[in-house]
Amino acid sequence: MCEPKKTLLFFLFSIFILIQPSSSALDSFVFGGCTQLKFTQGSPYESNLNSILTSLVNSAMFSNYNNFTIQGLSTNSQDTIYSLYQCRGDLSNGDCARCVARAVSQLGTVCLDSIGAALQLEGCFVKYDNRSFLGVEDNTEVLKKCGPLIVYDSNELTRRDEVLAYLAASDGTYKPYRVGASGDVSGVAQCVGDLSESECQECVSEAIGRLKTECGTAPWGEVYLAKCYALYSEGGSHSNGGQDTNNNDDEIEKTLAILVGLIAAVALLVVFISFFRKVCGKGKGDK
Ligand SMILES: *[C@@H]1O[C@H](CO)[C@@H](O)[C@H](O)[C@H]1NC(C)=O
Ligand SMILES: *[C@@H]1O[C@H](CO)[C@@H](O)[C@H](O)[C@H]1NC(C)=O
Repeated sequence: MCEPKKTLLFFLFSIFILIQPSSSALDSFVFGGCTQLKFTQGSPYESNLNSILTSLVNSAMFSNYNNFTIQGLSTNSQDTIYSLYQCRGDLSNGDCARCVARAVSQLGTVCLDSIGAALQLEGCFVKYDNRSFLGVEDNTEVLKKCGPLIVYDSNELTRRDEVLAYLAASDGTYKPYRVGASGDVSGVAQCVGDLSESECQECVSEAIGRLKTECGTAPWGEVYLAKCYALYSEGGSHSNGGQDTNNNDDEIEKTLAILVGLIAAVALLVVFISFFRKVCGKGKGDK
């Protein structure tokens, strides 16, 4: 243990772990909710839930959307669980699986022992319940966030409205994931994959209508309904806005993360040095 080479290696390894970004923008928390009702630990519901959540994570390695149902025993049908996940349409299978895994692990702490729960991260949505919600249209507003209502340049407002109109447009085909941009204004809309083409269209239209009326002239806005969302942002005005994840906010976050990592690393180095001095110093003294 007192060999300097080993010490140095161990130290470098620690730094490496520390400055690894712990989470990407896709993992950012958007909203979450849990039922008040809890199941008892060790119950069949718990084991069904564990296996259904495992299925979601596994499936996300191959597909951007899927649903799973576990039927409770006929005598005890309240153990039936319905579940689904939806990744944002532009995610790779790897990113989708990482996001769903992250969401499932957060649900395990945020909604511990809840019979039903839903969680939206920036890159994916996960929901489960003992009440069937699969294929059920639901345009309830879950979350609305608007940027500051500033005096907006009318050209920007025109571009914003163009983007929103493009996102809301229907050509009769099934488009669960939509992106649009005009100038530096970009927008995204995403339906949960259990909706039909017309239900998805209705949900997106509703979300976009609310963005326009409720976010007014704000440079960015987000509306999340139970089964879809729509959001827009003027270039770099909001990190959750468009698709662009390389904007300033993220850069600042990364820089901060690296700084924090370095400070922690220096602190560790000091601890290591004093520790090894003591241990190695004692060893020598004893001989
Ligand atoms: C869901 O679970 C709760 C609590 O066990 C139960 O009262 C309710 O009837 C269940 N709902 C369904 C649809 O099984
Ligand atoms: C749920 O998944 C099954 C099997 O993959 C599929 O046939 C069904 O259409 C899906 N239901 C919904 C509502 O998405």
